[in-house]
Amino acid sequence: MSSPQSLLIRGARILLPNGEFLLGDVLIRDRHIIEVGTEIVNTTPATEIDAKGLTLLPGVIDPQVHFREPGLEHKEDLFTASCACAKGGVTSFLEMPNTRPLTTSQQALDDKLQRAASKCLVNYGFFIGATGENTPELLAANPTPGIKIFMGSMHGQLLVDQDAVLESIFAQGQRLIAVHAEDQARINQRRQEFAGIQDPAIHSQIQDNQAALLATQLALKLSKKYQRRLHILHMSTADEAELLRQDKPIWVTAEVTPQHLVLNTGDYERIGTLAQMNPPLRSPHDNEVLWQALRDGVIDFIATDHAPHTLEEKAQPYPNSPSGMPGVETSLAVMLTAAMEGKCTIAQVANWMSKAVAVAYGIPNKGAIAPGYDADLVLVDLNTYRPVLREELLTKCRWSPFEGWNLTGWADTTIVGGQIVYHKGKLNTEARGQALSFV
Ligand code: DOR
Repeated sequence: MSSPQSLLIRGARILLPNGEFLLGDVLIRDRHIIEVGTEIVNTTPATEIDAKGLTLLPGVIDPQVHFREPGLEHKEDLFTASCACAKGGVTSFLEMPNTRPLTTSQQALDDKLQRAASKCLVNYGFFIGATGENTPELLAANPTPGIKIFMGSMHGQLLVDQDAVLESIFAQGQRLIAVHAEDQARINQRRQEFAGIQDPAIHSQIQDNQAALLATQLALKLSKKYQRRLHILHMSTADEAELLRQDKPIWVTAEVTPQHLVLNTGDYERIGTLAQMNPPLRSPHDNEVLWQALRDGVIDFIATDHAPHTLEEKAQPYPNSPSGMPGVETSLAVMLTAAMEGKCTIAQVANWMSKAVAVAYGIPNKGAIAPGYDADLVLVDLNTYRPVLREELLTKCRWSPFEGWNLTGWADTTIVGGQIVYHKGKLNTEARGQALSFV
C-alpha cells in the first residue's frame, strides 16, 4: 500500500529496545514507527532510504541547552540551533530560561513555544526559571519539563542562592526541579582570593569541586525533606558522584555533559577560554569517576549544556570571557567515539542520550525503535572517522571545543516525526518539529 507519509529505512543495523541489534528494515507512517523487521515486504513507501552499513538509533533528546532566543540572537537562535541539532542527530531538546526576557512566566514560555513552532526543525520543550518571587507561575506553567533553579553561577533575578527561598520553592508543588548546583557564597569568596589572575585555568579553582558539592548537598537535603522530584544538571565532580552513590533517593536523577567526561583542566592550555564553562572542567580523576558513575547508573543520562558565545566574546581576557561551549552538533559523535574506544557500549550511549531522558522527563513515545513509538531516529556511520572542522559547523557561534578531534558515529540521516531533516550533509529547512509533552 502506498502512502504519501510513509518512509522505509532498508537494511540498517537497528538498535532494539533490549539492547540487541537487528539487521533489517523500519517502516514509518504518519510520524510513527509502524513495523520493525528483518525484511519488510508488501509496501510501496513514498520514500526509501538505503541504510546499508549504517546503524539506526533513537534520536537524541538533549535535556539541557541554551539557544539564546529571544534576546541574545547574536550568539544563536532557535533556527540555527535546531539546524545544528539536526546535523548532530538531536531530534528533541529542552531549553533553559536565561534568555531575554527570562523565561519566568507563562507569557514568556508561550512566546518561546510560538517561536519554536515557526522555526525549529526538531522537537522542543522549555524550562521555566525560578526567581524566588514567581512561585505561582512555577506551579501553573504548562507545558514545561520543570523548574530550573540556578543556585549559583548566575546573576540577576535567576540567581536563587538563599536557603530560605530555595526551601520555599522545594516546599510548594510537586513538579520536577532541575538545579544548577554551585554554591554562590563560596564562588564569591574565592573570586576575591584569586582576583587579578587572567589565566582561565583559575576558573576551575574558583568554582571548585567544593562549590559544586555544597550546592548538591543542599539540593539533596531539600529534596529529601519534601520528597521533591529533583534533577541535578551537569554534575561535574567525583565528590558529587560519590555522594549520590551513597545516597540517591529514587526520585532523584543526575546528568553529565560529554565535556565533563572527555575534557579536563588540561584543556585550558589547548583552547584557553573556549574551555571555560559552568560548572568548570575538572581533573582527569573526576573524568574517570564520572564515567564509572554513568556506567553504574548513579548518573542517569547525558546533556550537552550547549551554551554558545561568539569568538569575539570568548576572546576577552578571563574573567570577562563568558562561560559556556556549544555541543549539540558533536555530542553523539563524541559519545559514540568513546563507545568505539571501549568506554561503554553503543546501547548505553543510546540509553543515556534518548530513552533515559524520555523516562526521566515523562516524554511519551520517545527513546526506542519499536512499533508505536514516534519516528525520531538517527542513522549513524560507525565505519568512518572525520575531524570536527570549524567551517562545517552550523551553530551560529562557529566554534567547538572539539575542533580537530577525529570522530566516528556522525549522523548520516536524522528523522524527526517521520520527516527527514538532515541527510548526507543536507538540511531540510522546511521541516518543523513539535512541542514536547510531559506526563
Ligand atoms: O557555562 C555555562 N554557560 N553554564 C551555564 O549553566 C549557563 C551557560 C550560559 O548560558 O552561557
